[in-house]
Amino acid sequence: MKNTNDIKGIIFDLDGVLLSTDHFHYLAWKSLADKLEIPFDETVNEKLRGVSRMASFEIILSNKPELKLTEAEKEAYAAEKNELYRTYLQTMTPADVSDDVRATLKALRERGYLLAVGSSSKNAGFILERTEMREYFDAVSDGNNITNSKPDPEVFLKAAEYIGLAPEVCAVVEDAEAGLEGAVAGKMLPVAIGSAHGSPLAQISLDTFADLAVHFAG
Ligand code: BG6
Ligand code: MG
Repeated sequence: MKNTNDIKGIIFDLDGVLLSTDHFHYLAWKSLADKLEIPFDETVNEKLRGVSRMASFEIILSNKPELKLTEAEKEAYAAEKNELYRTYLQTMTPADVSDDVRATLKALRERGYLLAVGSSSKNAGFILERTEMREYFDAVSDGNNITNSKPDPEVFLKAAEYIGLAPEVCAVVEDAEAGLEGAVAGKMLPVAIGSAHGSPLAQISLDTFADLAVHFAG
């Protein structure tokens, strides 16, 4: 257990925490799975939360073991999924981020916390730009600057390094079990929201994003 008073930085997962891209991921993976005749539904999609693109594809492929693909074919199919996913991302606007999220991030900054994004996504920069969210963060660590994806703590350790703080004085806000595992492995304070609410890995579970302002008083 950590004392919330010791926390100086807060690292946010992007998808499922600051905004929602779940359905776009679902639609893009579904299109590829249908083409490859692999069973895929919302339950399988749920297992992809926080997991990197290639690891997500491996989870999907595990539902059709007789389908053997080379690494080059896997890369090409994943790129095809990403292209379709990005056409959905093009439709995002600042209205896709709630006023609550914006007001809470602003309040936390005013209280002196350093804020960072810690996302597995290689599209994080594009999403932050589309939704005009970059200005709230002191640093962004994402799928482009890591070699090991969540549950490895690398993406969060890099985020802490970018904001110049020791991992021990950082909290991580996550909607995925894989992300909470990474936060624990990185010795950060694990905060759960959304799908991860109530996880035994979390020290705090948030009912709403705005509740962050209750737990982190500055
Ligand atoms: C995470 C999502 O944020 O990013 C995962 O929760 C996704 O579902 C991962 O697989 C990688 O995303 P991208 O944009 O690099 O394909
Ligand atoms: Mg997430």
